[in-house]
Amino acid sequence: MSKSVRHFLDINELPQNELRNMLALGATMKAKLKAHEKSKKPLEGKTLAMIFERPSTRTRVSFDVGMRQLGGESIMLTGAEMQLGRGETIADTARVLSRYVDAIMIRILNHDALLELAAHATVPVINGLTRRSHPCQVMADLMTFEEHRGSIEGKTVAWTGDDNNVLASWAHAAERFKFQLNVATPPELAPKKVMRDWIKATGAPIVLGTDPEAAVRGADCVVTDTWVSMGDKEGEHRHNVLKPYQVNEKLMSLANKDALFMHCLPAHRGEEVTDEVIDGPQSVVFDEAENRLHAQKGILAWCFNEVA
Ligand code: CP
Ligand code: NVA
Repeated sequence: MSKSVRHFLDINELPQNELRNMLALGATMKAKLKAHEKSKKPLEGKTLAMIFERPSTRTRVSFDVGMRQLGGESIMLTGAEMQLGRGETIADTARVLSRYVDAIMIRILNHDALLELAAHATVPVINGLTRRSHPCQVMADLMTFEEHRGSIEGKTVAWTGDDNNVLASWAHAAERFKFQLNVATPPELAPKKVMRDWIKATGAPIVLGTDPEAAVRGADCVVTDTWVSMGDKEGEHRHNVLKPYQVNEKLMSLANKDALFMHCLPAHRGEEVTDEVIDGPQSVVFDEAENRLHAQKGILAWCFNEVA
């Protein structure tokens, strides 16, 4: 891999100033778009390959539209349609795609496969979700929080639900952007040792617990996600242990009065969140969805060395 290739693999892989640069690039382009102002097309003539091993609505459409708005285009591929599905290695796939396209965005459950792709690609690789993390989502969430409430530094975010990829990216963001993250999960669905060790090693301001009420007290933002992520086994037991972690009006009432509610979507209404909360005045879930477009345009522009 050439040293100058800028991959976007995880929030904790990059210094805060680079992450801030991406958010600023995205915010500037968003403002111009809203004002119907012409903006330059930094990705003119560039092509993004999008590989999806799993379904997607937001990631797929926002990257495709984002590339068009940046002057480039995208190609949508599914793992099953590619020789990848017949055993061609990730490394060879990376080498071949790098000869055709200017960047690769991939959604693949196996995080090591993402790292392997990045190691062998000579073009930027973007993590579009793995079992381990979902950094594009949390970049959009940071943008959303700051649009509504100003700098996230020193604020408190609460997570209630299971340990999953979105939580991992929130944890990475807490460490990089210096905000408190209170986590409440059932004991059996708590963050794994590798995450607990990382929190210890970095001194990230993250409190792990099992009590959702304790987690949301004093929070400026309450976040949850589906109880069954892609790759998880469905089951009555999982739903039963997660029931007390539902975000409903009672739980929201324990957070700060003006706390935001966030969810990456798709939501399972009546499970991890009630209609009253997700459709209520504190919910910013559709701003988050919209900001996938703007934040990712910032990420794409950054991959091609744009500076805010
Ligand atoms: N939040 C998110 O990544 O949505 P999709 O699965 O629809 O891309
Ligand atoms: N945690 C969820 C996020 C979906 C965007 C999943 O991995 O399925």
